[in-house]
Amino acid sequence: MKGQDQNMLLTLHRNIQFIYELVLARMELEVFDVKYQIENSLRSFQISSGLNVERFTKRCAYFKEVDGTLSDYHFIQQFNQTRSVNQYLTHWFYPYKGKFHPQMIRALCNIIGLKEGDFLFDPFVGSGTAALEAQLLGINFIGIDISPLCILQSKVKARSIDVLDEIVKLRHEIRPIGRNIKNNSQSQLLFKGITYEDIENRNVSNFYQLAEMIAYSDSRRRHKDFSKSFYSNVDKMIASVKDYRDMVNKLNINLGDAKLLLEDTRQLSLSDNSVDGIITSPPYSIALNYVKNDAHALEAMGNDLETIQDEFIGVRGHGFKRFELYNNDMEQCFKHIYRVLKPGKCCVVVIGNVTYQNEQVKTSEWAKESCKKAGFDLVKEIDKIIFGLYNVIQEEFIQIYRK
Ligand SMILES: C[S@@+](CC[C@H](N)C(=O)[O-])C[C@H]1O[C@@H](n2cnc3c(N)ncnc32)[C@H](O)[C@@H]1O
Repeated sequence: MKGQDQNMLLTLHRNIQFIYELVLARMELEVFDVKYQIENSLRSFQISSGLNVERFTKRCAYFKEVDGTLSDYHFIQQFNQTRSVNQYLTHWFYPYKGKFHPQMIRALCNIIGLKEGDFLFDPFVGSGTAALEAQLLGINFIGIDISPLCILQSKVKARSIDVLDEIVKLRHEIRPIGRNIKNNSQSQLLFKGITYEDIENRNVSNFYQLAEMIAYSDSRRRHKDFSKSFYSNVDKMIASVKDYRDMVNKLNINLGDAKLLLEDTRQLSLSDNSVDGIITSPPYSIALNYVKNDAHALEAMGNDLETIQDEFIGVRGHGFKRFELYNNDMEQCFKHIYRVLKPGKCCVVVIGNVTYQNEQVKTSEWAKESCKKAGFDLVKEIDKIIFGLYNVIQEEFIQIYRK
C-alpha cells in the first residue's frame, strides 16, 4: 500500500488519556512515514498515505486498529491476570515502586527506530519493564542494575517462558516452611527435601525465589499469610507465563534475547559503540530510596543493607549532600551511557523533578546539562504526568537525545 493514496481510519487504544501519549502516538506515525489528519475527537486519525498496515499493526503501541484490523498490542494487553490494564503478561511480578509504563516503552522503541535483532540497553533496569517490551518486539536487550532484587525480577519476567514446563512440574513438590522473619534467615522453600537453591536450572529456581519474595513482601507490607500468599502467587505467576507462551504462539512472535547483569552503571563494562538504543529512567534523585523500599526482600536474599546502600545512586550521603553525590554519580553514568551507544543512535532518559524539604529540585534541567556535557544532542523533550509519587515528584520529562 505504501506510496498509494489510502483512505483508512486509525483508532487509538481506549486507555490513552494523556497529552504525552497523544504526542508519542503522533511520533509513532511519523516514524512509520504515515500521512494523516487527526479527527476532532483526537481519538482517531484519517490516513491519506504511507501506511504499511501489516507492519504497523504488528509493532505500534498506541493504536488499537486500522480499519478493523486489530493491532498485536491490542491482543497482548488481553493476556492479563491482573486488574491493571498495563500489568499484562509477567509485568506484574513483584510490587516494585516507580515502574515504567510498558506501552510507553513499546512506543519509544519504535520512535527511536529500533528493529528486530537490534540491541536496546537500559542501564537502570529496575523491575525489567524495558526488558519485556523489547523482547516482545523481537529486539535484543541488555539490562543492568545494582540491585540483586531488580536483576532477579527482570530475569524471571523475561526468561520464565523458556522453562515453563519445568516450573509447572515442580509446582506440586514445593512446600514453603516459612521464614524466620526476625532474623531474616535464608530461603525456606523445600522441594521434596532439597532447597530451591539446589535446582540446577537457574531460571526455574529464580522463578520460585521471586515468588517467595512476593509472598514475603505481601506478608511484611500487607500482613498476609506467607504460605497462602506464596501458593496463590505461584499459581498466578504460572498462569501469566502460560499466557505469555500462548500469546507468542497466537501472534507468531520471534522474541528477542534478554541479558540481565548485576553491575554498577558508574563503572559500566559494556564495549564502546555497542548498543543501538537506550531507554532508561535513572534513580529519581533522592526521592525514592530503593534500598529502604525493598529492604525486607534484599535482606532475605542475603544482602547486607549497609554495604549495598553505598552503591545505590541517590541513597548515598545525608541531607543536601546527597544531591551533590547524586549529580557526581549520574555524571559518570551519562559518560558511560554515551560511550556505549552507537553514533547516530538515540538515548531516551525519563526523569522527574523532585521536591525536597518543600523545595523543587530541577533534576531534569541538570540532566540536560550533564547529557550535553557527555556529548549528546537533545532532540525532543516531552513533559509527562506522573502518578502515585505526588509528595516527592510532580513533573517528569521524556528527553530524547542523539549521539
Ligand atoms: C527509576 S528506577 C528504574 C525503574 C525501571 N525503569 C522500571 O521500569 O522498573 C532506577 C533504578 O536504578 C538502580 N540503581 C541505583 N544505583 C545504581 C547503580 N549504581 N548502578 C546501576 N543501577 C542503579 C536502582 O536499583 C533502580 O532500580
